[in-house]
Amino acid sequence: QKDGFRFFMEKEIYEQSNVVSDCMLGRIQDEEILFDEIDSSIIEGINEIKICACGTSYHAGLTASYLFERLAKVRCNVVIASEFRYKEPLLTKDTLFIVISQSGETADTLEALKMAKNAGLKTLVVCNVDNSSMTRLADHTILTRAGIEKGVASTKAFSTQTVVLWMLSLYFAKQNDKISKETLQKEIHALREVPKSLIVSDKMHEKTKRLSKRYLHGHGFFFIGRDVFFPLALEGALKLKEISYLHAEGYPAGEMKHGPIALADPELFTIALMPENLLYDKIKSNVEELSARDSTICTISPLEFELSDDFIKTQKTDHYMLEFFEMLVVLQLLSMEISVRLGNDVDMPRNLAKSVTVE
Ligand code: F6R
Repeated sequence: QKDGFRFFMEKEIYEQSNVVSDCMLGRIQDEEILFDEIDSSIIEGINEIKICACGTSYHAGLTASYLFERLAKVRCNVVIASEFRYKEPLLTKDTLFIVISQSGETADTLEALKMAKNAGLKTLVVCNVDNSSMTRLADHTILTRAGIEKGVASTKAFSTQTVVLWMLSLYFAKQNDKISKETLQKEIHALREVPKSLIVSDKMHEKTKRLSKRYLHGHGFFFIGRDVFFPLALEGALKLKEISYLHAEGYPAGEMKHGPIALADPELFTIALMPENLLYDKIKSNVEELSARDSTICTISPLEFELSDDFIKTQKTDHYMLEFFEMLVVLQLLSMEISVRLGNDVDMPRNLAKSVTVE
């Protein structure tokens, strides 16, 4: 069943390019985004989007919040489902409530969905499992079509969720007349290129294997990025924690100077996400600050950076989301190879279950 791969996680990382193509199939036609599952009434009267999810799905939601505001010009906030449940949230009917879940069974997310329904909000679930508790409950479902995900550490679920949410932001943008024809064309052109960005090259995989030797000891990792690369940094840190049991934190790069940089020394590994097409100079100056405090720096970028100790080169593209997806693959491979080197069970990490159906 592993089709020659060592682990399900490895197989699922490699599958991403194909499943993302499946996920987009029929949903991009000419210069238009179409979802058979929904129609334009879903956003009528909507002034705000609220997203609720847990773990990796929460990171997809955070990524989407940048895209919804930037492209669809609709206010969007994201809440971790276990926090949402007890904060006595204010819910108004001009809010579209979106839950994101690979399994459709996560207890906290399901409860959040129930609360939103009871409050009379329109609800939508972005889910990988049809006929799950969430798809049965929500008003609308968009399936991510990732296929069964066996590795406990989520990989292809995240890439397909992110692609669905990006398409959805363009769908809303178009429906609300908030996007120019040129921008829409540019975005759709980039979407079509995502499967290419998710292809795992031998060179990239070898590089992460080689680097995994260096990044085993030390007192921790900072994954840093800006904008959508901040949720990607969170996701990179979560992957590493889950399967390598090493301490890792994801941070918005601009926050480092507000405290965390005090930890910087050579034993502190910084994994810096440095896309060429989004805020490059800003993140560069954050990395310079960390380097000046002797942190060991690994940069992931299409551009070489003289201060980095290690460098994983990504392809040049003309859209930051394409850089996002290639960097995602790099982060997944890196955490997997570190876990392998430490002798851990990649597919069944300790203390974790694939689906968290209790609170
Ligand atoms: C991380 C991971 C978890 C899940 C979380 C939500 O690799 O797998 O953080 O993302 O438990 O699960 P779903 O998406 O099924 O609601």
